[in-house]
Amino acid sequence: MHDLRVTQSRITQPRVAVLLRMSKLTIAIDGPAGSGKSSVARRVAAMLGYLYLDSGAMYRALGLKALRQGIPLDDEARLVALANQTHIELRAPTAEHEAVGAKNCVFLDGADVTREIRTSEVAQAASRLATIAKVRQVLVAEQQRAGAGGGIVMEGRDIGTVVFPKAELKIFLDASPEVRAERRWKEHQEKGDRITLPEVFDEVIERDRRDRERKVSPLVRAADAVLVDNTAMGIEETARLIVMLAQEREKELAGAAGGKP
Ligand code: CDP
Ligand code: CDP
Repeated sequence: MHDLRVTQSRITQPRVAVLLRMSKLTIAIDGPAGSGKSSVARRVAAMLGYLYLDSGAMYRALGLKALRQGIPLDDEARLVALANQTHIELRAPTAEHEAVGAKNCVFLDGADVTREIRTSEVAQAASRLATIAKVRQVLVAEQQRAGAGGGIVMEGRDIGTVVFPKAELKIFLDASPEVRAERRWKEHQEKGDRITLPEVFDEVIERDRRDRERKVSPLVRAADAVLVDNTAMGIEETARLIVMLAQEREKELAGAAGGKP
């Protein structure tokens, strides 16, 4: 039985209401670990009044379930069956979760796993089961269903290449490996996790390599994606740049449709 659901509330902010007049685009943001996808995508969605979907949280939730059930991460048949029997819900974060840096609340079969999915062990498990084509099929189908109406910012590894190849705006978000590892390490520090910067660096590099080298839906910049390197940029600055690109794209589309630019 296929029982995987994604729900997410729409985030609106009155002070940027003027942007809501834009017709609803699909915005795909892909990039490596720690490049700022979740923070930036969530901010862009808030500025535009769009949905925000963190596809990586779905792979992480499934990875957590596989670890808990002791399913070997190379047992394709059991992992595919697991994906089909799993109920994942993504919701806007509660104030409590937001206070500790969560960009969304993640529910696995009805239980809140928002914190539990953010460990290095779960990240590695997610990236291992993400190499299995039939597992991806289940999650991708649900992502496509969730984003079918447009007006969404979805982030991950294959959003612009596989999930929404026709997305009106595609961003490939990047930053240097050192900066990405340091960002992730700071998050661990804030949570009190006992993990060193070199350990986080190795985890990020290993996961990047697996994500880039896998046969199915590897992490790659789509030919029509805009490369945004935010090594030396903050979240707000990066989000504003993407909102500007979205407005440009909207004008182009309106022009092409014969409307007023
Ligand atoms: O989703 P992804 O792994 O690509 O990155 P993220 O979770 O959005 O960002 C990782 C950490 O880097 C978070 O703590 C962000 O606050 C921080 N960050 C930053 O300091 N500057 C940026 N331009 C982007 C993210
Ligand atoms: O936050 P971070 O960028 O570290 O990772 P994530 O976005 O939460 O994704 C965790 C893992 O899930 C990645 O390392 C990928 O292996 C996998 N993933 C994927 O294969 N495709 C996606 N669209 C999203 C995540």
